[in-house]
Amino acid sequence: MSRQTMSRTRVSDAELAGMTSLAPRSDFPLLAAQPHLHYLDSAATTQKPRVVLDAITRYYETVNANPHRGAYRLSAAATEAYHHARVRIAKFLGVADVDTLIFTRGTTESLNLVASAWGRANVKAGDRIVVTRLEHHANFVPWQALASAVGAEFVIAELHADGTIDLDAMARLVTPRTKVVAFGHVSNALGTVNPVAEIVGMAQRVGALAVCDGAQGAPHLDISVDSLGVDAYAFSGHKMLGPMGSGGLVMRRALLEQMPPYQMGGDMIAHVGDEHTTWNVLPHKFEAGTPNVEAPIGLAAACDYLTALGRGNVLAHERALAAQAMAALAEIPGVTVLGPPANRRGGVVSFTLADVHPHDLSQMLDADGVCVRAGHHCAQPLMRALNVHATTRASFYVYNDASDVEALAASVDAARRKFAG
Ligand code: ALA
Repeated sequence: MSRQTMSRTRVSDAELAGMTSLAPRSDFPLLAAQPHLHYLDSAATTQKPRVVLDAITRYYETVNANPHRGAYRLSAAATEAYHHARVRIAKFLGVADVDTLIFTRGTTESLNLVASAWGRANVKAGDRIVVTRLEHHANFVPWQALASAVGAEFVIAELHADGTIDLDAMARLVTPRTKVVAFGHVSNALGTVNPVAEIVGMAQRVGALAVCDGAQGAPHLDISVDSLGVDAYAFSGHKMLGPMGSGGLVMRRALLEQMPPYQMGGDMIAHVGDEHTTWNVLPHKFEAGTPNVEAPIGLAAACDYLTALGRGNVLAHERALAAQAMAALAEIPGVTVLGPPANRRGGVVSFTLADVHPHDLSQMLDADGVCVRAGHHCAQPLMRALNVHATTRASFYVYNDASDVEALAASVDAARRKFAG
């Protein structure tokens, strides 16, 4: 399918905003090499710009050594590069206390870290953990397992019909017994952008830990984690143009200092005695073993790239494309678009097509070069509430434009006609 601009003569401002991509497609080697590909699965992982790939290669070609371990100059350079990446990523995320940014493999590991290290030390039998019906399994199962292990109560805040959280009902669930309120910044399955301040307020009123899954927030919203007021914020680098296996956890210093380490091993210790061991300072206390240095090096380059694009433009661009996609899909008989209106979501559009299984639909779209995710999106509790087994999901990012929306709608319509015939 050819890449083309929309042919309508009168377009709204929202449509105009998405007609051209925010980032040149030529900056992304994979997209440049496959001009007919319509990559609409950025909520799963994003494509990588050349600057990220170059930063990783340059690190290995010029600086590679094990950081924090050698007295020789190359190891010192690796230590400096690793630290400098942390400083740049912390700045991008609006985190002033750089050492409270712990590098992990991504959001899943970060949330498991909090549930395991903080949760085991602080949540007791009879306490309550509140999550929302929108959660990705990574912000649902670790809390459910913790509750089950310690005898705490695990409760789910339900949604309105449009896929937004019923905040009044949630506020009633957050009682003085509540120790954790865990919620997503933006839903990976529906795109719902959640009101962080209101949810943090609920947690603060009862002294509960406010934990935010920022996997779909950090890549898209112009945030300052410090200003969000959350106690813990987890994110993944690979969803924001960085490499796979990059990401982190930002957590309040006092909490990180009080809680036990998550993993034991090299670099996270201060002194190892025959009987007792003491822990290193932050961030090392939570980074046992040889770090994946290339991950933050690549992610820092991605942060710089997003900053240069104009981070404040990302959400508006995605919203414009999502609005176009919602409008185009709604015109196709049998399509049901799920979730909130475009102005309450990020660049995610989940939909169903009559009784066509999303896996079959996504394979037909693939034949047209349209890459979408089909399935439960690691959100089975949400799928149950929506009364579907699976959806087809298109998700937009900085390299998408109106031609991707057109290709999606044309391919879904062609699939509908084929299945109907
Ligand atoms: N969490 C990723 C997604 O939503 C994998 O697709």
